[in-house]
Amino acid sequence: MQEILPDNTYSHSYPIPTSTSPIRLVTSETTSFERLSQIAAFYDSETEEYDNGYSTPLCQAEDRVWSHLIQNIVGSKVIDVGCGTGDFLKSFQPIEYVGLDISHQMAKIAHQKYGRAFIVANMHSLPFPDNYFDTLVSMYGPISYSLAPQELIQEFARVIRPEGSLIVMPYTKRVEKGEGGSISEKRILAGDYSTAINPDIKKVFYSTQMLKELFSGFDDVSIMGINFTANGIEQADKILQRVFKKEPLSVEFYQNYMLWELENMDDKDRLVEYARHAIVIARKPGKL
Ligand SMILES: C[S@@+](CC[C@H](N)C(=O)[O-])C[C@H]1O[C@@H](n2cnc3c(N)ncnc32)[C@H](O)[C@@H]1O
Repeated sequence: MQEILPDNTYSHSYPIPTSTSPIRLVTSETTSFERLSQIAAFYDSETEEYDNGYSTPLCQAEDRVWSHLIQNIVGSKVIDVGCGTGDFLKSFQPIEYVGLDISHQMAKIAHQKYGRAFIVANMHSLPFPDNYFDTLVSMYGPISYSLAPQELIQEFARVIRPEGSLIVMPYTKRVEKGEGGSISEKRILAGDYSTAINPDIKKVFYSTQMLKELFSGFDDVSIMGINFTANGIEQADKILQRVFKKEPLSVEFYQNYMLWELENMDDKDRLVEYARHAIVIARKPGKL
């Protein structure tokens, strides 16, 4: 088995079904070698700081909120697309799991952290057969790096079994404003973390309407925003910590606040363009 696995596979225990999955050549401009290299180079250079940047109480609370939303949906055979440093495994430990990323460094660190299977590949051409996984997850932004999202979603659906689930978190229009904006805008709109997404790399930022259209072929589609105000609360909390030496707000505080928002906001205010994150949960129909 070891000899036939590609060099870019960071675990030699995962039975990658190479013989049944011809790797399709993707030649469109949107997934050109130059563009993929630019994304990979950016994330290769980010790994040292990446995990530190996302360990704040607010970020931990966001993880808990999406984990809560998908707790009964994640199957036992899971592919994690754009897996980064593998932190989906902090919340879930599927029986069978493979993480996939375009960045060698991200996949390598993920494997060092979690010891599970991670491969380096382009999400537009997943090296797996049709109907192979119960669930495809893609957390915190990978689909926003696709400039051909319709094709990408078809490719995601291909590797999930009928009735299997698709869980993705695209970047929102609110994050776009933060990304391009001043330091103050970044802090309020997207948090201080928006430096971890490089504004030089073109991305697609989503609204609720765009996501409705993108996932129109799926069943049981649920599109939710996560964290509508907590960036503001986090900024206020930081000031109170600095000026009055106050203890930071807890993970539980932010978590409860975000769950309260989800339950109590009006539908017209709950659009993902107003939220720091979006999550889409959908089910692959019997036939797409
Ligand atoms: C913001 S990170 C999210 C990482 C991880 N899912 C998490 O929750 O922390 C976006 C990831 O998408 C990956 N990515 C972007 N374009 C990709 C592509 N075409 N194929 C595979 N991975 C890609 C990047 O390398 C990066 O690791």
